[in-house]
Amino acid sequence: MKELMQALRAASIQAILAADDAENLENLRVRYLGKKGELTGILRQMGKLSAEERPAMGQMANQLRTEIENAIEARRTELNKAMLEKKLELETVDVTLPAKDVRIGHKHPMYNVLDQIKEIFIGMGFEIVDGPEVELADYNFTKLNIDEGHPSREWTDTFYFTEDSKILLRTQTSPMQVHAMETKSLPIRMIAPGRVYRKDEVDATHSPMFHQIEGMVIDKGVTMADLKATLNLVVEKIYGEGTVTRFRPHHFPFTEPSCELDIQCHKCGGKGCPTCKGEGWIEVLGAGMVHPKVLSGCGIDPDVYSGWAFGMGLERLAMGEYKITDLRLIFENDVRFLEQF
Ligand code: DAH
Repeated sequence: MKELMQALRAASIQAILAADDAENLENLRVRYLGKKGELTGILRQMGKLSAEERPAMGQMANQLRTEIENAIEARRTELNKAMLEKKLELETVDVTLPAKDVRIGHKHPMYNVLDQIKEIFIGMGFEIVDGPEVELADYNFTKLNIDEGHPSREWTDTFYFTEDSKILLRTQTSPMQVHAMETKSLPIRMIAPGRVYRKDEVDATHSPMFHQIEGMVIDKGVTMADLKATLNLVVEKIYGEGTVTRFRPHHFPFTEPSCELDIQCHKCGGKGCPTCKGEGWIEVLGAGMVHPKVLSGCGIDPDVYSGWAFGMGLERLAMGEYKITDLRLIFENDVRFLEQF
């Protein structure tokens, strides 16, 4: 029996030292010390011993149990420590390594121009308003005095959603004039920048989607002189002091009188050059005094109130400011192009 225990000691200690994970170790514990384990098996044979031999053997068995338990415990501690070390090693972060290159973008050139314009108008007490791009024909046309049958309502020019031509993608930001007059209390000073849509083929100067900025003032005693003074000021802020302007008569259904504002070509000083296509002048925007019919249609008494409005193309402005020669570059989002601004 003594020999059996010595053999068990040797074998178990060796196996425990070789165990390489917690599960392995637990299996060994059951194998040696469990109810049906090897040590219990040896102890069952105590009955065969003489009464003198028994106490010594019992003591030896107890000692062996303690030894095996201690060995298991020691190995468990060792394995835990190794595991922790391995985990820490795996999670090591080398803070001295160079960081990944983070590419930070910047504002799109067209939005730089828009921000500049917003600043100018905010400085004059205007508010910035936003409105729907999916619009009712009523707002895009009818309430702006553009009646059924007007060429700009043609299916060939406008993206309609419904057969009855009642819902569309707005073709201009002018419906924002109507929204503002219907919902805001007077007086009104607002600009409304946003996307507009027309059935145009894409080329260097056309896109089926582009941006306009609408502006409007409604108050008592507003005249064409206010329109001219305000727009002259805006032009000077955008194109520089002393920029020469010209207000040319024009027709828009929703303003009366209507005009277009040209600036004298800043490149050639009016002599004619490629920038102004030999004209000496560059068209900047359309404007006019809000038509009395439009005012009264929005519930504003044209005998008490008057107002002026303008609409301008944002892309064209940005192209002029940054000397961009092809409209498509503005929408293509090619980083090689955008990086230049
Ligand atoms: N909506 C016009 C266009 O798309 C531009 C315009 C002209 C707007 C005169 C106005 C205005 O507010 O008064 O061509």
